[in-house]
Amino acid sequence: MLGPSTVLVTGGAGFIGSHTAVELLDHGHEVVIVDDYSNSSPGAVERIAKVAGRPPAAAYEADLLDRRALTEVFDNHSFDAVVHFAAKKAVGESVRLPVEYYDINVGGTTALLRAMREHEVHRLVFSSSCSIYGDTTKVPLTEGDPARPTNPYATTKWLCERILTDVCRYVPELSVLALRYFNPVGAHPSGLLGEVPNGVPNNVMPYLAQVADGRLDRLQVFGDDYPTPDGTGVRDYVHVMDVAEGHRMALEHLDDKPGMSVFNIGTGRGTSVLELVSAFSHAAGTPIPYEITGRRPGDVAELIADATAVARAWGWTTSRDLAAMVEDAWRFQQMNPAGYPN
Ligand code: NAD
Ligand code: WQD
Repeated sequence: MLGPSTVLVTGGAGFIGSHTAVELLDHGHEVVIVDDYSNSSPGAVERIAKVAGRPPAAAYEADLLDRRALTEVFDNHSFDAVVHFAAKKAVGESVRLPVEYYDINVGGTTALLRAMREHEVHRLVFSSSCSIYGDTTKVPLTEGDPARPTNPYATTKWLCERILTDVCRYVPELSVLALRYFNPVGAHPSGLLGEVPNGVPNNVMPYLAQVADGRLDRLQVFGDDYPTPDGTGVRDYVHVMDVAEGHRMALEHLDDKPGMSVFNIGTGRGTSVLELVSAFSHAAGTPIPYEITGRRPGDVAELIADATAVARAWGWTTSRDLAAMVEDAWRFQQMNPAGYPN
């Protein structure tokens, strides 16, 4: 069990990274952030300090691919572990810019592994994704189910898992936990931290939040002819605070076992798009306009985690339900309609 530690959080100004940074600070860890702010802003770091009541030990504006900058970060601190969130994550963009995705997501991970090796840091928690399961009809999904990534983003995550597995084979002192998140949503209950998408959101939850506050007209529901109870897509939405707690517990369990382990991070429960619209309308106290349109290319009917392995391994289970997810997302939207101040 890893005690109070100094943890490098790459992508710590992003959605999941910022919530995890607060969770780590709240539990006595020191946090150092590296982020190039390509999909976030320094305002997030200020909010982390405000919510946690103390700042991260340091926050560096740096691109993981900048070897000199990364070396300097490792030279300046003695890290016990690394939590690696920094990556590009938009599926549609990855189809347009596959090389950039391989470069940043895979190249960023190998750059980090190199710096870790040079500085004898041997513990890593890696952000993987349910998207690696690809076009599947199996419900729920276990970690042993085959990976069949269907877009460059998902392939980068699968490649990173393969690289990490392989490196662990040859570097026996390395411990890696790869967490395959399903659909993280929601916000910190303070309303001070949340998801700040760039431009028009791709994902359903931030889109709904912007429809509810009138910034967007209506939600387009991508298809109502799936083989699901109401015909709309079903996903395993998981509260970002539960995900953040999962990372803190992962750090505490990195020393349980050397080598690479993989866990699904989800609730095990599915919610359809229409159920989500209804829950959000309830939280916002206003009907949310929507229209049914055609299916979005690449979408699957249903993705639900079997998260029993992580529950068995460390006792991690979710404690926040769908009502908490939409209430917290709505509170954050109302308190920060234009995101964080710059
Ligand atoms: P996010 O975009 O909010 O956070 C990623 C952070 O990394 C951003 O702050 C961004 O500025 C930073 N970053 C990107 N490229 C960088 C680089 N080259 N150098 C330094 N910093 C860089 O995304 P998120 O939703 O918080 O996701 C975090 C991780 O979890 C990502 O690896 C993502 O692929 C993975 N993931 C996310 C979801 C989801 O639905 N949000 C689901 C599964 C997996
Ligand atoms: C959810 C549901 C849509 C938008 C994505 C990534 C995945 C992972 C999690 C990173 C689907 C429907 C959506 C809209 C809609 N991220 N929808 N109208 O696609 O399940 O997963 O985030 O690893 O890799 O692909 O999330 O929020 O985009 O969609 O009807 O405007 O909402 O069809 O059924 P998705 P999402």
